[in-house]
Amino acid sequence: MDLINLFPLTIIKDKILIRDEEKINMINEIRDMKKNSKNINYQTKTNAWTGDTQGYEFIHKNKNFKKLFDEIAKRVWVYLNYIEIDKELIDLYIQRSWATISEGNERIKKHRHFQSHISFAYYLKKNKEDSNFVVFDESYKNEVMPGIFRSDTALKKGIVKKMNQFNVTQAVVNIQENDIVIFPSKTIHSTQPSFNNNERISISADIACVAKDSKLLEMGMPPLNEWTKI
Ligand SMILES: [Fe+2]
Repeated sequence: MDLINLFPLTIIKDKILIRDEEKINMINEIRDMKKNSKNINYQTKTNAWTGDTQGYEFIHKNKNFKKLFDEIAKRVWVYLNYIEIDKELIDLYIQRSWATISEGNERIKKHRHFQSHISFAYYLKKNKEDSNFVVFDESYKNEVMPGIFRSDTALKKGIVKKMNQFNVTQAVVNIQENDIVIFPSKTIHSTQPSFNNNERISISADIACVAKDSKLLEMGMPPLNEWTKI
């Protein structure tokens, strides 16, 4: 008997190794951003500090982060190559980028990045015990009884015997320091709740894919120089 699994979500995970000195620079810079937060009341007790909500949403323009972003860009192109997007025909733009810091039980709740196409998380500082990356499915293709694989009671009652690779609706991607994950921006994701983080620091950005030439192209974003402000 064959099991045919179709239509995957593909996330790329890789390592980016950076010299200690550069790493410490970036970590210190991010700690300073947190110290100088512009909207600290926005951060609730259980939410991680996220730089984009605190006045630091363009760290890709900071020279101390340049090398890292150069390395990240290479991997974004590799990711696009896997899904057969032709590098010669599109440009990539970073729209914004920011750091996050999680202390203790702080977490990043389920969300997606609405305005971009590709997003990533790079783990600049992470212990084994710090929370990992969680991804959520939205299509529930194998959910023959609607809602059944998202129901605690169905699991408790035993109608669903256990979760496995064919019925999970959320999955943990285990992460180590220096790992990067690259994924479609529309993917719902979060960090694991109820973890005891020891100043876990990640860096994220939103990237837009723009067609170099939109002639005879119905889908995709046309070149920026064709846009007209109204
Ligand atoms: Fe995110």
